Amino acid sequence: MADKKRHSVPLNRDEVTPKHIYQNRRQFLKQMGMVGLGALLASCAPRKPGASDIPPDAPVNGRTDELGDALTSYSAVTGYNNFYEFTTSKEQVASLAQNFETDPWSVRVDGLVNHPGVLSLEDMLANFNQEERIYRMRCVEGWSMVIPWVGFPLHKLLAEVEPTADARYVAFETAVVPDQMDAVDSGRFPFPYLEGLRLDEAQHDLTLLATGLYDEPMPPQNGAPIRLVVPWKYGFKSIKSIVRISLVAEEPPTLWNIVAPQEYGFYANVNPDVSHPRWSQATERRIGEPGRRETLFMNGYADEVMPLYEGMDLTIQF
Ligand code: MTE
Repeated sequence: MADKKRHSVPLNRDEVTPKHIYQNRRQFLKQMGMVGLGALLASCAPRKPGASDIPPDAPVNGRTDELGDALTSYSAVTGYNNFYEFTTSKEQVASLAQNFETDPWSVRVDGLVNHPGVLSLEDMLANFNQEERIYRMRCVEGWSMVIPWVGFPLHKLLAEVEPTADARYVAFETAVVPDQMDAVDSGRFPFPYLEGLRLDEAQHDLTLLATGLYDEPMPPQNGAPIRLVVPWKYGFKSIKSIVRISLVAEEPPTLWNIVAPQEYGFYANVNPDVSHPRWSQATERRIGEPGRRETLFMNGYADEVMPLYEGMDLTIQF
């Protein structure tokens, strides 16, 4: 602990997980079926993809999403990643992130809430029932996957902290740990990675705080130990390794909108009819499949989420 690495939100001594709770975490993960064969880990110790008890390209038992699309292989989900704090090379994220320290971990929840506080990962695992959600993920770059996440809906956490009447948006922030994240000081991007949702989007039942995938604790390259998943929006909204969630009154700044506002809007809803200025969004490459397939409006979740956008022109508010 002496050389505990820097977090953008400092961990106070009394925020560090006491041993009995840490042990409960292991027990909890075990009950959740998240601890597999003995090797699976002293809690969430990072490891290389492929070192899993799940063989890299294990058949996924014919499991599909609700549209009948097959799950993307574990090796692709954990071996082809975007996590720019480590590198912009998708195939290298897993190895560069393998020593990212995610235990202990806590998330500060603050701003316009009646009950601000700091929640440890153990608190969240213990208080919010973990469930599996199989979601499509469509990256703005034009590729997609089908991923079996484990986590809990964000609205459960929001209900605990009670947003005040003035709260209209939720802002999220990723950890910045320069001595573990090779690229945060490169100057290429203005880290910390920031994201945001309107409060009603954040409260939608599809919006997940994910703590694992494929029944395992979240691998570091996928945003350990806790990340957002918003399946009807382009993947960049699904911010990884969250250390802070703030309820705010005004639309919060987001990293991609700061970097290129004409290319990346605040909403970033998947929309095959709204082209990126430099490429069409009409089709996508489903990882593991030959060719391209048509991109679905709202990534196939339109029935669930369109009530959120009544009266909005989604070509202007993109
Ligand atoms: N979150 C952080 N902190 N840093 C990132 O670079 N990349 C985003 C998103 N969340 C990113 C992030 C992008 S562009 C995508 S497509 C998804 O994470 C990729 O998630 P995955 O690697 O788990 O597939």
